[in-house]
Amino acid sequence: MKILAIESSCDDTAASVCEGREVLSSVINSQIERHVEFGGVVPEIASRCHTENVCGVVDKALKDANVSLDDIDAVAVTYAPGLIGALLVGVNFAKGLSLSINKPLIPVHHLRSHIAANYITSPDLEPPFLCLVVSGGHSHLVEVKDYTDFKVIGHTRDDAAGECFDKTARAMGFPYPGGVHLDKSAEEGGNPDAYKFPKPRLDTPYDFSFSGIKTSVINTIHNANQKGETLNRDDLAASVRKTVCDILTEKAIKAATELGYKKLALAGGVSANALLRRQLEGECKKRGIEFYRPDLKYCGDNAAMVAVQGYYEAVSGNFADQTLNARATMAIDE
Ligand code: KG4
Ligand code: ZN
Repeated sequence: MKILAIESSCDDTAASVCEGREVLSSVINSQIERHVEFGGVVPEIASRCHTENVCGVVDKALKDANVSLDDIDAVAVTYAPGLIGALLVGVNFAKGLSLSINKPLIPVHHLRSHIAANYITSPDLEPPFLCLVVSGGHSHLVEVKDYTDFKVIGHTRDDAAGECFDKTARAMGFPYPGGVHLDKSAEEGGNPDAYKFPKPRLDTPYDFSFSGIKTSVINTIHNANQKGETLNRDDLAASVRKTVCDILTEKAIKAATELGYKKLALAGGVSANALLRRQLEGECKKRGIEFYRPDLKYCGDNAAMVAVQGYYEAVSGNFADQTLNARATMAIDE
């Protein structure tokens, strides 16, 4: 079953053709250059860029896969959650395409697709497993009971991990997208013990909270500026990264151990973080837990993961009709 997938939930316009878990093509048009001068994603600009790029990206995905529209068995599309205007471009394009080639339409939840990125990298991975999903908008601990059966056991009470990285990175003067630059700077020899930030105490064991860390980092920078002191940016980046990654690692390992999971996966844009990958791998190894993470090219937003999750949605009979609409928010287990 060849699936053509379209992804436009944030600032990447992407299309891919996959057959089951096999990626035949994966094309991504990143809008970073269009948003960098604003220090973050401007939703209106994102929607316009998707509109300009979607046709070319889909065309290239078909060409790279060496297939024509006649060879496509279904069209999958990200329909929630994300920037509503951005999602609507992909959803309407996919609806039109499905109608014109008379092939089924498959609605795909963005976080489900991030989890499915692991199926591409690890062809043997099958549910059940526990997954730490960390992106710009979400930080979830999810029990993946089956390919289309999920249970959220923990989530962030305020900021997502990616948001915390992006906002503190911006305060440190890194360009958008901050998380990537903060990680690089920390990797280049920053001292992770140079600064201490408070770790939240929550009464629910698997929930997260990152806004306190964000505020504390921003206050540290403001105080130094007021006193005319210079902070070592690599040290600051490394300290923030360590604080956030320690929390994510501790909670994910605690949940896997307490719930008896022998497989732990990492997903979402923040899964590209070098320290998070190393720490989780090391802690899993110590406990005999199998650790899975996507290849770096499938960590951020892409359409190959949408096609692969789309395949499993189709197998479960989850199709949409022409009334499909985009949704800015939606739980993964809805
Ligand atoms: O999944 P994604 O591409 O988009 C959303 O669905 O939100 O995730 C984007 C997030 C951004 O916050 C970005 O800064 C973060 O992932 N990110 C990273 C790294 N690469 C991307 N955060 C930390 N370290 C990285 N290497
Ligand atoms: Zn994403």
